[in-house]
Order: sequence, then C-alpha cells, then structure tokens
Amino acid sequence: MKKLLFGIALLIPALLGAWEKEVLISTPNTSLLLSAPQGEELKFVYYGDKIDEAQVSQIYDAGLAINKAAYPVFGTESVYEPALIVQHADGNMTLDMQVTGVERENTDQYELVKVMMQDKVYPFGVDVYYKAFKNSDVIETWTQITNNEKKPVKLQKFASAYMPVRQGDVWISHLHGAWANESKLEVEPLKRGMKVLKNKDGVRNAHTDHAEVMISLDGVPSEENGRVIGAALCWSGNYDLTFDTDDTNFHGFFAGINPDASQYSLAPGEVFVTPELALTYSDQGVGGASRNFHKWARNGKVYNGTKQRDILLNSWEGVYFDIDEPRMDQMIKDIASLGGELFVMDDGWFGGKYQRLTDNSSLGDWVVDEKKLPNGIDTLVAMARNSGIKFGIWIEPEMTNSVSELYEKHPDWIVCHPKRTARPGRGGTQLVLDLSNPEVQEFIYNIVDDLMTNYPEIAYIKWDANMSIGDYGSSYLKGDKQSHLYIDYHRAFRKIMERIRAKYPDVVIQACASGGGRANYGLLPYFEEFWVSDNTEALQRIYMQWGVSYFFPSVAMASHVGSSPNHQTGRVMPLKFRFDVAMTGRLGIEMQPKNMTEQEVEFSKKAVETYKSIRPVVQQGDLYRLISPYDNKSVASLMYVTPEKERAVFFAYKTYHSYAQVLPRFKMNGLDASKNYRITELNQDADALSGLDGKIISGAVLMNEGIELPLKNEYASHVLELNEVN
Ligand code: GLA
Repeated sequence: MKKLLFGIALLIPALLGAWEKEVLISTPNTSLLLSAPQGEELKFVYYGDKIDEAQVSQIYDAGLAINKAAYPVFGTESVYEPALIVQHADGNMTLDMQVTGVERENTDQYELVKVMMQDKVYPFGVDVYYKAFKNSDVIETWTQITNNEKKPVKLQKFASAYMPVRQGDVWISHLHGAWANESKLEVEPLKRGMKVLKNKDGVRNAHTDHAEVMISLDGVPSEENGRVIGAALCWSGNYDLTFDTDDTNFHGFFAGINPDASQYSLAPGEVFVTPELALTYSDQGVGGASRNFHKWARNGKVYNGTKQRDILLNSWEGVYFDIDEPRMDQMIKDIASLGGELFVMDDGWFGGKYQRLTDNSSLGDWVVDEKKLPNGIDTLVAMARNSGIKFGIWIEPEMTNSVSELYEKHPDWIVCHPKRTARPGRGGTQLVLDLSNPEVQEFIYNIVDDLMTNYPEIAYIKWDANMSIGDYGSSYLKGDKQSHLYIDYHRAFRKIMERIRAKYPDVVIQACASGGGRANYGLLPYFEEFWVSDNTEALQRIYMQWGVSYFFPSVAMASHVGSSPNHQTGRVMPLKFRFDVAMTGRLGIEMQPKNMTEQEVEFSKKAVETYKSIRPVVQQGDLYRLISPYDNKSVASLMYVTPEKERAVFFAYKTYHSYAQVLPRFKMNGLDASKNYRITELNQDADALSGLDGKIISGAVLMNEGIELPLKNEYASHVLELNEVN
C-alpha cells in the first residue's frame, strides 16, 4: 500500500506540470542531485555518496550545493565554457534555456529521469536524460536536442554532459597509446587551464587517448581509498573530453562527440541525440569505480556480458596471410586437442579476381579464395564440427582496397571528397568505405548476412577496422552536409550493428581495429569483446590489460598467448608466464600450435583445462588490482573474487628482474576476513613453486598481512586459486 501511494505521489506532480524543485537521482550507493525550478535554469547540485530525500537539505546546509548550470549553453554567460553552441536560422548565436518539466519512468532495471528545457524565445528544446541503474552504481546521462524552428539550426558544439568537480587535489587517470602499445595508464593532477583528451581518427577511437577517465577527488589516486568519479563516453567515433579549470572553484568536465569539423545542421523537426556519458562514483578508490563499471558492463552495456566466452585459437600470428586448407585443418585439430572450443580463421581467406596474398588488395571482395580453399568454407566448418569445436572468421567490412572488384565497381563508395584524390592507407591501397551512404550500409550488412546465410554455423566474427579517415569528404553527402560525415559514419555503424544483432543474436562478434583501436562503450552494446592489442607479448600485456581493466570487464578483454620469441618485441619468455597473463581475460591462443614442443603441448592442455575451471571467477568475478606494474615494484598482481567471496583466483608476475631484489608482500583484497581459504597453485612450474599449494589461510591474514612469493627468476609468475573451507 505504501508502495502504491508512493507511485501515485510520483505521478501526480508530473501530470500537473509541477514537480519538486529538487530532482534526486539515485543508484544503490550513489546520488546525483539537480535543481530544476520551473521557468529557470537547470542546476547541478551534488554527485557522490547516496543521500535520501530527507538529506537533500543537508547538502544545502553544509554549503555543498554546487548550483552551476547542469547543461551550460552559449549566449548568456559567454565567458564560461559551454556544453552547447548553436546558431539559429536568423543568425542568433545565443540560447537561454528554462526548465519546462520533469518526467520519471521506473522499470526493474533503472529509473529514467528526463528534464525538459525550452529556449525562452525560440522553439528549440533540450531534454537532459539521466538513467540510474538499480543493480549497479552507474548513471548514464545524455541530451536530446530538438529543433522546432522553421529553418535548420546549426549545432556547433553538442556535448553529452557537463559536470562541475570541486577543485582541490584532483587527479585524473586515463589511457593513452598507439598501435601495439595501447591503453597505457596516464595519471596526472588537474591543473589550471584546460586538459583536453580528444580523438580525430574518424573510424577507431581507442588508439591515441581513450574516451574514459577516472577523476580522483582526494589526491594521488589510490586503488582502494578515496572518492573517485569515473566517466566513460559511449561513442565509437571522435570524442572530446575536456576539463576546463577557470576562475571558479571548479573544474568543469565536458564530454561528448568531438565537434571539430562536425558542425551539424539540424533540420526543422529533427532531433539530435547525443551519446551517453556513463558516470560512476565510488568512495573505494579507482578499484571501486572500476568494479562499478564492470558490473554495469556485464549487466547490459557489453553484448551478452554475462555469457561464458569460448577459448579460441586465432590463425593470424600462426600463419598470417598463408591460409590454405591443410593449415586450417591442422590448426583446427591442434586447438581441439588442446581443449580449445573455437577456431578463428583470420585475414587472407577471401578474394576473387584479386587474391589477398598480403595487405594490399581484395577488401570488399568477400568471396572465398578458391586457390587457397578449393573446398570452400563449408569444409572448414565441417572440420571444426568434426573436431568438436566451433568456427569463426575474420572480416573488415568498413574497408576496401583500390585493388579490388568492389572499388572498380563503386569508386564513389569511399570516404574522400569527389574533387580530391584519396591517399590510401595500409598496404598502399586501403580505403575507408563511406558509411553515410545507405548503399554502403546495405553492402556492409549483407557481408555479414551472406556469410551467416551461407554458413549458419559460423559462431564468431572478428570485425576489424585498420584505417582512419584521412581524406575527409563524401560523394554521397550534399554540400551543406559534408560536415556530418564523422557523426553519420558512426550512426550508420550503430544502425548496421543493430540490424545484425536483430537477425543474429547468437554469433559472437569481436571488435578489433588495428589491435586495440576499438575498446569503447559506443560499440560494446553490439560486440561481446575487443582485441586489446596486436602486441601479444605478455610483459607488455600486463601494462595494457591493467589500463584496460580501469574501465572494461575481463569478460570483454580478448587476451591471447603469443609466440616466443614474441613477434612484436622479440622477447623470449616461458609459456607459463604467457598463459598466466592471458588467463586474466578471455583466454585465446595466437600462435602456430604445431611449433610447440611436446612439453609445451602438455602444459597448454592442462592450462586450458584449468582455465575452464576458473573461467566463471575470471570472467564474472570482481576485480581487485593489488600491485600496479606502474608502481615500479618489480611485480604486478591482481585477483578476481566471486560476489559470495567463497572463491577467488590470484595472479602475480615478475615485471623486472635484478640481483638481490626485495619484493613486496602480496596483500590480497576482496576476500571475507572471517573465512578460511584453501590455496591451490595453478599452472605449476615444478622448479619454481610458490610453496603455498594446499595451505589453508584466513581471509584476514591474506588481506592484512599478505603472502610471500619467491618470484626468483625473470618472468616468474604464480596463479593461486582460493576456495573457502567450511
Ligand atoms: C589487424 C588486426 C590483426 C589481424 C590483422 C589482419 O592488424 O589487429 O589482429 O587481424 O589486422 O590483417
């Protein structure tokens, strides 16, 4: 009854067009407070630990109410950085927005709050949305911009969100990288002036910087202590995250599509929806904020985020372009005999008139190369089936080469202004297809649709994208719409993925883009996982995977065992170390298994079997980062713990080796102090055991005192499984 009354109480103010001035939006442990007085500006008041309605006044009483515009627009307080700049058809550059209504919608999963605003003079509206999840501490926020004027309005800047952050000892942690060196962690204090993280690639947005950031409010970021706000822009294209520290007491944080060269002409009646900015807050350091993101991601933001992932062999580093039936047959049989569950045939399988022998031709000609595979893909699928495993395939649908039948037929389908000559990329011939063109969208959808129709048993698609937009321009877009290309490209990409998902909900799709160029929440709603990097060297991967784990869950992190010497760095390292690193994510193998020694085959078989047993903990457990490789302590360590805390898997690695080193103890985290745990050493190396196998130790000791590990040799590592003893 009480519940019912509450429901009516919520509905009535909305119906009457009157509502509480204070708009409180909460998740299980966090709250965001707005002030939305009718006819006035929407204000951002508070974001932090959860408060209830009765505590709202305390925020004001304590002087904590920020009271700055929640979505600042250009034109009235022009000296400050705005989130939105538009030019009306009459040339007027200004906006003056007032709140006209607040609506709330409740489901089992989330509460959606919509604050409606209208310009005081122009028929121009902005609705600000807040989606507060009920099973994770994430609030997604975005805007919907509506032009009800008679002529087009030009959008010049259109951030998804703005958030004022009180100055103090505020630090940011974000990721930066390049091909084969992705997602390196950068940690820095926020100083006066502007800090801008932006990307202009056009296609991939996780090389250079990333569209995610952690904001530590209480000084130098700590893994488990202090207040942290995490922000992730859910957009696969160019983005702009800006911190503007002006003469107020605040850092202004803006996040949205990068408006550079992207002025958007909004037609009368047209609605522009900005991508979601996912915000989280934790008082348990960056570790707490990461766990919040992971939970939210697994529960919906990553496609099939709670589904178990298969262990696979990918053919790329094993054979590169030298695909043929005997090699595929051998690799399928080898991964099956190692206990793997899926084989993925990478680049090199296609091409009709032009054979794809290297990276300089045939993209777009998605027909089987009958010289390499005379019996076609059906035979390979059958080989996999007969070996008891699944089959997957590589495609790069958004691209073509100037040497291809597709380009010969449709030279106007590429990204490039018709008055310019395109400068090709990879292989000296690669070109990007113009996704703003509906014919191209249809073509791309059909690549997947044809493959899945012809070979319905395809269980996995590696979707690659190996080029940026260099020569800006479109043969399809009209003159006044040329500046829509960056945005329309990614809207079309999303539309294509929606169609694919509607028809093929079960095929697993990996986002790959020259390695890790597409780790972002704009596309993960359609992809199960992303490839972290083309650098498969385990030591480098410790750093990259550490960075990625700030924002992305392990279930989405494709992590493969590479060769030794490693193909990217040339480093020689033991198979155990390579497995121990790859086993912290979605395990795969990226090498030619036939080159393994008998001993290595035996080790791999056991490791694959072991991974299967710990997979639920690694892929779905809570991550605790224990010792950062960036702290230069010569070791790195992390662990995964089940929500019930009855099972955990601990990983430790030597990252730097020298004589007479004093290594730190390894203090665990996330366990139940009152429980006892039996330790089992996994992936054992008989010559370098931890000495902990079979020991029973309490959660309290493991967390407060930690454990000693020998880690005597270069590339030493340990994996320990912990099980509660009753
Ligand atoms: C990109 C990917 C690699 C591989 C090659 C194939 O570089 O990142 O994993 O698929 O393309 O050409």
